Amino acid sequence: MGGVFLADTFSAYEVAVAVFYSVVILAAASYLQRTPLLWLCASCVALTLFSLLLSTQGSWRTGLLNTLISLTAIAATTWLALKRAAAEMDAQRAQTHLLRLARIQTLEGLTTTIAHELSQPLTAIVSSAEAGQRWLAQQPPQHARARETLQRILDAGGQASGILGRVRSLSQAAAPARQPFDLNAATQEVLHLAAAQLAHWHIQLVTHWDTDLPPVFADKIQVQQVVSNLLLNAIEAMQGEGARLPRCLHVVSAQQGDSAVLSIQDNGAGFAPALAEQLFAAFWTTKAQGLGLGLGISRMLVEAQGGQISAHNVPEGGARFCFSLPLAHQKESHDAGHGLPG
Ligand SMILES: Nc1ncnc2c1ncn2[C@@H]1O[C@H](COP(=O)(O)OP(=O)(O)OP(=O)(O)O)[C@@H](O)[C@H]1O
Ligand SMILES: [Mg+2]
Repeated sequence: MGGVFLADTFSAYEVAVAVFYSVVILAAASYLQRTPLLWLCASCVALTLFSLLLSTQGSWRTGLLNTLISLTAIAATTWLALKRAAAEMDAQRAQTHLLRLARIQTLEGLTTTIAHELSQPLTAIVSSAEAGQRWLAQQPPQHARARETLQRILDAGGQASGILGRVRSLSQAAAPARQPFDLNAATQEVLHLAAAQLAHWHIQLVTHWDTDLPPVFADKIQVQQVVSNLLLNAIEAMQGEGARLPRCLHVVSAQQGDSAVLSIQDNGAGFAPALAEQLFAAFWTTKAQGLGLGLGISRMLVEAQGGQISAHNVPEGGARFCFSLPLAHQKESHDAGHGLPG
């Protein structure tokens, strides 16, 4: 800005040097929020007018014309930068909404199934209990009939717990598309989706990919869902007022024995060490807008693939979430082992 001001004030050429303030505004637009950007625009306008007053070179008429051109350029650039920032915010909101929606749909699907399947035995239990009360209230009490209703209640109870067991195994076996895939590439796809959010919060992304990592054997979409959940949490953990700067996100892949391990580490506030297990409980959240489901669902998905997920506090501040997945060649050798004759 100083350079533009000096050139505008002392240049002997009758050109609208002040239009270069728009370059300053464009460069600053990716770092500044709305209000500071408006202040920057106001400063550029003030400096342009000040230059006009100070300038001793050239004709007053040309100076005035150049000033008008420059002011128009400054105003147009600021308007466009604000529009772009608003569009980016909208896109980001839509992306976060999409990530959350996928989770809510999983939950809604499960809830509807359970409610639908359980309503029948529950209705039977209630009506049998009422019938039992009526048989016992008769004079003399109809003990044999009452015993029959008790048996019906037992049967319906057994049916209900059978349904719960089935729903559970259904959700555990909900890994229909397990196949070998590259964990590094799948994670990079998610990071690419979150690029706008990372840029918005000025989060430095540090990645360390194990390039020799063999393919993992899992459901790629579900694994990407887990990565999105952990990524969202990490971004949210670094948003607080007292966030440590610069915000830094480490994503590391590695092979550990027969598994591939992905770890996502932030430098937010971390969590109380005693809560390491509590974090994974359903509906446990410390966020005003949180559902408390992200980690619970992530654990369910990872365990359904034969992996494990854990949370750790980082000594220098922040949290690290790691999950493991079985390697594809492990699965093949396991299958081959079972296929051996005898
Ligand atoms: N990276 C992290 N750093 C510190 N605390 C975390 C981190 N990730 C999760 N937590 C804590 O664990 C809680 C549960 O996380 P979880 O993802 O299950 O739910 P949520 O993020 O609160 O809501 P949502 O269901 O919308 O994801 C969070 O509310 C937060 O307190
Ligand atoms: Mg979450």
